[in-house]
Amino acid sequence: MDSLSRRTLLLGGATAVAATALGACSPAPRTTTGFDLPRATPLTPAPGQRVVTRTLLPAPVTVDLGGPVVSTWAYDGVVPGPLLRATAGDLVRVRVRNQLPSDTSVHWHGVAVRNAADGVPGLTQEPIAPGTSYDYEFVAPDPGTYFHHPHVGVQLDRGLQAPLVVDDPREPGEYDDEWVVVLDDWIDGTGTTPDEVLAELMTGDAPGSGHGHGMATGGGSSPYGNVGDVRHPWFLVNGRVAAAPETHHARPGQRIRLRVINAAADTVFAVALGGHRLTLTHTDGFAVEPYETSAFYIGMGERYDAVVTVGDGVFPLVAKPVDKKGHARALLRSGAGAAPRLDADLPELAGVATTVMELRPAASSRLSDREPTEQVALTLTGGMSGMSGMGGMGDGGWGINGAAFPDNSPIALREGARTRVAVTNATMMTHPVHIHGHTFALPNGLRKDTVLVAPMQRLDLALQADNPGNWAAHCHNIYHAEAGMMAAMVYA
Ligand code: C2O
Ligand code: CU
Repeated sequence: MDSLSRRTLLLGGATAVAATALGACSPAPRTTTGFDLPRATPLTPAPGQRVVTRTLLPAPVTVDLGGPVVSTWAYDGVVPGPLLRATAGDLVRVRVRNQLPSDTSVHWHGVAVRNAADGVPGLTQEPIAPGTSYDYEFVAPDPGTYFHHPHVGVQLDRGLQAPLVVDDPREPGEYDDEWVVVLDDWIDGTGTTPDEVLAELMTGDAPGSGHGHGMATGGGSSPYGNVGDVRHPWFLVNGRVAAAPETHHARPGQRIRLRVINAAADTVFAVALGGHRLTLTHTDGFAVEPYETSAFYIGMGERYDAVVTVGDGVFPLVAKPVDKKGHARALLRSGAGAAPRLDADLPELAGVATTVMELRPAASSRLSDREPTEQVALTLTGGMSGMSGMGGMGDGGWGINGAAFPDNSPIALREGARTRVAVTNATMMTHPVHIHGHTFALPNGLRKDTVLVAPMQRLDLALQADNPGNWAAHCHNIYHAEAGMMAAMVYA
């Protein structure tokens, strides 16, 4: 079997394995990919443990994005899907009833769930076949801002994404109100689908491609120039285009906690709130030393929390794509006045925005000091064969450690070991590297689960191997991941 069809099989693009829904007491079958699936043993709540129960309905829908009306796939009929909220330590039970015409799964991005609930067909479960349902059960150990999305094909670039907030039982609560801000790039139902975009990218005939051959195009002063491959016609905040923005109402002087989630498939944004300074408080759920800035970069799969003190008036919250045209926006209204002009360029976005390198972890977020005893390499490869603007997405294209998943070797970890994950970006694009089931520490100590790695950058991540299983590590550009820029990270 050629590697493309093997990938398709593994990622669930085709239903090749017996697609029964695995209930809570399924045996542990070995998939055709050779990984032993973890056992999804039922969890019973401990005395006093709260149980959060939800049903999630992925289904085809028609949605109005505030002008463009598109047919797409979404959770519970809305884009983004409904907020799922729990408190750290809760037992979360979500029944997913798949009404899509395709296999699907749900991955709880950034949450250090037990392996059986991680939602990766081929590594942790069989895909959820159309018309069947699947129960996810996990304990969310760490408070923070997360989201969930399918781990099948390029379904993330449809409307299948929803915010997930895990509250801190010891929340200091130094804010009055909250605003969850989901950023997205949108192409589905605008005359094409993500699957068609992927097919075009894979053959190198990519009309959706916005770029040349691996050279930064108009990245300006951003350290992340050359990040995207697809020309998404729309950018959204909470499912709305910039011309028909969501309005968040507040009172002057209120302190608002923004929970910003980049759910885009292919877009890094610079984010700012007109007329305001932001105090960054968390990234990927973990507290940072409060850092004041006017704008910050957020890569695909990353989350940032910021607190703002609301001024008096109407203010645009703008997410400007790096290396692409257009923008996403919403409005914060605390007083009278007309909405600012649609394409008002924010002075806050004029310069270079804050990157992770400027931030420091809060004491509570630090990984204990330990010298790594193991080292593994995670080298992002590909892009040299020059197939279209993608830099080669077919075989010989994007991969990790020299080959496309699942043709590359699994990265072996050792349980309990402090491990140095030596990430090398050997390509001319920026890629957001995401590791499932764990958080890692950057050289500056910052705890994250997703980090942007610039072209030719080398970045050592410190990871504590404390959650055994079959985990995915991949680029969170969903087209790159699906083309093979993914690896398994395994230990028992
Ligand atoms: Cu949001 Cu495998 O990731
Ligand atoms: Cu990538």
